[in-house]
Amino acid sequence: MVGFAYEGSFIMEILRTTAEMARWRDECCRESRTVGFVPTMGYLHQGHLALVKEALRRADRVVVSIFVNPTQFSPGEDLDKYPRDFGRDLDLCRELGVDVIFAPEVEEMYPSGFQTRVLVDHLSQNLCGRYRRDFFSGVTLVVTKLFCAVRPHLAVFGEKDFQQSVVVKRLSKDLNLGVEIIPHPTVRESDGLAMSSRNTYLSKDERQSALALYRSLLAARELVQEGERRVEVLIDRTKAIIEAEAHCKIQYVQVVDEDTMVDIVEVTPKAVMAMAVFVGKARLIDNMRLWSD
Ligand code: PAJ
Repeated sequence: MVGFAYEGSFIMEILRTTAEMARWRDECCRESRTVGFVPTMGYLHQGHLALVKEALRRADRVVVSIFVNPTQFSPGEDLDKYPRDFGRDLDLCRELGVDVIFAPEVEEMYPSGFQTRVLVDHLSQNLCGRYRRDFFSGVTLVVTKLFCAVRPHLAVFGEKDFQQSVVVKRLSKDLNLGVEIIPHPTVRESDGLAMSSRNTYLSKDERQSALALYRSLLAARELVQEGERRVEVLIDRTKAIIEAEAHCKIQYVQVVDEDTMVDIVEVTPKAVMAMAVFVGKARLIDNMRLWSD
């Protein structure tokens, strides 16, 4: 049953197992349909939905996965508190015309005895990889499993998690998974705050302070536009803006090459400033390309 028309509306299927997913996928193959994929952890916002729209534009059929992946959280992180609203997520996806929601249980993805790991080495080590020990190994493991289950032609990833999208691109290439990775620009609230499921952790005051992330990135880019090339100067300026805010505690602010994730000292056309900042209890990340032609 492939998303057929029923009284003018499409039936969106909710699949819970890899076996069901494989059957649906085989059907697409028989019908020569292309499949686009958007992996998520749910609690969808307009950032996620922009990715879904991009997938709908590019592929005949679209699968969205909703799975809060335990292997990418370290002990003490927010796995238990991670926000969830499955019913609302379904409504939002149905409205857009998504064909399939793939929402496996943890036991389906990681049955007892599971022991395989997937590691993308150097790209995973800097930035978030330095501070979240299990994050990238968990992401690469789950994305590999999801790609094997869904077998998409293409998958859309957000540049809000810019290191993640680069790591996944490498993963798909290195393992010959054959999935084209489409990066999508960061979607922001009207005041500049990057949309994130974790913004829900912010109090009203904290949300106001969180605007410093975007403001500081813009300030750094402006300095580059004025001719500044010394990364040290840019980072000092950025940190000063964030540290002036109540509730904000910087984890890192770095400037890296967008292909290699290696820190640079002089701004180049491939320079990306990336940051992780605790605002109250919420750990927020953001980034921006510093060069504009
Ligand atoms: P999640 O945080 O739910 O994000 C799912 C996808 O939405 C990711 O590609 C992320 O970069 C993108 N996204 C989130 N906020 C965005 C924004 N404001 N603008 C543009 N894109 C945005 O990232 C994950 O889940 C997980 O690590 C996952 C890849 C699903 C593996 O578990």
